[in-house]
Amino acid sequence: MTNSTNPRWIAVQTILQVLDQGRSLDEIFNSDWYQSLALEKRDLALGRELVFGFCRWYFALSTLLASRLQKPLRARDRDIEVILILGLYQLLVMNTEPHAAVNETVKLALAQKKSWARGLVNALLRGVVRDGIELDSNSPTQAYPDWIMSRIRRDWGEQAERVLIEGNNRPPMTLRVDTRQASIDNVITTLGSAGIEASRHSTVSTAIVLSAPCEVTQLPGFERGILNVQDAAAQIAATLLDCKSGARVLDACAAPGGKTAQLLQQFDNIELDALDRSEVRLQRLRQNLQRINKSARVLIGDAASPETWFEGNNYDYILADVPCSASGVIRRHPDIKLLRHESDIMPLLAQQRKILDALWRLLKPGGKMLYSTCSVFRDENEVQIAKFLQRHPDCAEVTINNSEWGEPRPHGRQILTGSDNMDGFYYGLLTRSGGE
Ligand SMILES: C[S@@+](CC[C@H](N)C(=O)[O-])C[C@H]1O[C@@H](n2cnc3c(N)ncnc32)[C@H](O)[C@@H]1O
Repeated sequence: MTNSTNPRWIAVQTILQVLDQGRSLDEIFNSDWYQSLALEKRDLALGRELVFGFCRWYFALSTLLASRLQKPLRARDRDIEVILILGLYQLLVMNTEPHAAVNETVKLALAQKKSWARGLVNALLRGVVRDGIELDSNSPTQAYPDWIMSRIRRDWGEQAERVLIEGNNRPPMTLRVDTRQASIDNVITTLGSAGIEASRHSTVSTAIVLSAPCEVTQLPGFERGILNVQDAAAQIAATLLDCKSGARVLDACAAPGGKTAQLLQQFDNIELDALDRSEVRLQRLRQNLQRINKSARVLIGDAASPETWFEGNNYDYILADVPCSASGVIRRHPDIKLLRHESDIMPLLAQQRKILDALWRLLKPGGKMLYSTCSVFRDENEVQIAKFLQRHPDCAEVTINNSEWGEPRPHGRQILTGSDNMDGFYYGLLTRSGGE
């Protein structure tokens, strides 16, 4: 097996790009380098398992590693640290047979041309096996950076441990069914005939959950937009906005277009502007529109600076699905633990405030704006909305009633990670006074 067909070696190179270049896993998986790898399906799955597992467990395993090393590794031996943590992950989480885990890990050190590390890898991994070291997978709270753990504990008190545990679990693959094209029951039956087991989501009527993830290309109806990959929490947005026919709608942070697609599929005859500041992400939005065979006016620009893209015709509905810490989707994107820092939060809060204030001026009197994040940090959610209401006397909150999902907060509604098998999400619904 050459390096480029060895899933373990590819996992090491992927993780080094996350750690050294700050690239997200999504970005790497979509890169030319990754796409050009000719991996067998089974190896592709193993490579991903290793990469996701590394990110999920990095903070716990690196602490364990440090406690077993006689002296810390040099900065230039980051690759050996990664290789050792991957070895520990295979031994302690994947329960790989020790002989195989040690051998494969030694091979990785040799592939990095660091034969001096052979003895270290052998001694360290065999020592962990000999001493019966275990990782308590029911208490993954050590598997977070301190700042995330402290913030979640501060914000959620007794519920914090559950949020942390759920955030370390593997997420389900959840789909949105375009119920205009097919009923949920029919879709579940069709999937069953294709050997894909699915069930209705407990609280979101358009959502189904697969028993095991699969490639989207295997999903009957995906290419026609009957099925769309979208967590159940994200599927609530369109229902809350409830756009009337003929309305002008702005999806202000739209890419890659999950909610844009849903708005277009759920509401007839709306005039939708889909804005995002990232051209690369807008490409994915355009592909999604093409797949579902719907159209929108796609705009590139900064939601906080409408003068560069807004043409003066105010909106009846605005969806502000703002950039956020993504602390509610750590289970889907565990690289967030490595890539986000506490110092990112203040600038994010300021950016959210600017976007909200700028968009508010574009809303018609009587119009509705839905603010959403995939965050479980109160500062980005209910606190952001409380401050917005103070700054804007022409704004009233619309109470989100009769909801089976999430929990009411002083402002808006919060879904905590894993509740009803959903991602962590927040919704705040606002209306501008002055309408009829
Ligand atoms: C949470 S994601 C949106 C997900 C999308 N609504 C969906 O359902 O598929 C946030 C998006 O905001 C975009 N973004 C960040 N800052 C922005 C800004 N100032 N103006 C417009 N878009 C922005 C990002 O490029 C990103 O695509």
